[in-house]
Amino acid sequence: MRLDIVTIFPEFFSALDVSLLGKARAAELVETNVHDLRDWAAIRADGTPDVHRTVDDSPFGGGAGMVMKADVWGKALDDVLEPGGVLVVPTPAGVPFTQALALDLATAPQLVFACGRYEGIDARVPEHYASAGFRVLEVSLGDYVLNGGEVAAFAMIEAVTRLIPGFMGNAQSIVEESHADGLLEYPSYTRPASWRGLDVPEVLMSGHHGKIEKWRHEQSEQRTRERRPDLLSPDLLGPDLLAP
Ligand code: ADE
Repeated sequence: MRLDIVTIFPEFFSALDVSLLGKARAAELVETNVHDLRDWAAIRADGTPDVHRTVDDSPFGGGAGMVMKADVWGKALDDVLEPGGVLVVPTPAGVPFTQALALDLATAPQLVFACGRYEGIDARVPEHYASAGFRVLEVSLGDYVLNGGEVAAFAMIEAVTRLIPGFMGNAQSIVEESHADGLLEYPSYTRPASWRGLDVPEVLMSGHHGKIEKWRHEQSEQRTRERRPDLLSPDLLGPDLLAP
């Protein structure tokens, strides 16, 4: 997979080397290219030079903040997006990022992350690339507002790259982890069997694989009921969690 990140803070992504992704890059499963958006801002739309390499302007219609310029983003993405590439625009106004979406993106030949700052990117940018035939996804990490798309892009990159076929050392851990089956993962324990008066559940030391599997599934359901009832189908919800 080829990953391209366009940002005004390229240095932010130096941490890609130390995350899990470092292994995928070493194994040549992922090629990463980090681009400074300002490299495309030296010449204004009218052809005159811009020593300040301006990437934003005030919003049409008024209001607070600045909007990132379509002409600068257009030049950058024309250079970076390849045929078959998916354009991912992190934004709190996007569709939710989920494990299912991460799995879907893990098979794309190229992902281009367009990291906006300020009040976001001129809305014609995603519209243009969708009309040009690219798959364009405006994606939100969650219901809160970050200062820009960089942190969100980083999180999505980590979630996606570990799912690239051939990347994870232990494929079983992907099958068992939180969200893989729509439930939260069961609790895990290691030695010592007793710590500060807290004992590891007996069943885990029984060696009885059937019982262990059943216990883990029940724990997953219980955790999900308590912490994320929105993930459960109504027949798994207890009466206290069902809407009246
Ligand atoms: N940019 C700012 N906030 C964001 C969020 N919650 N998700 C994705 N991108 C963002």
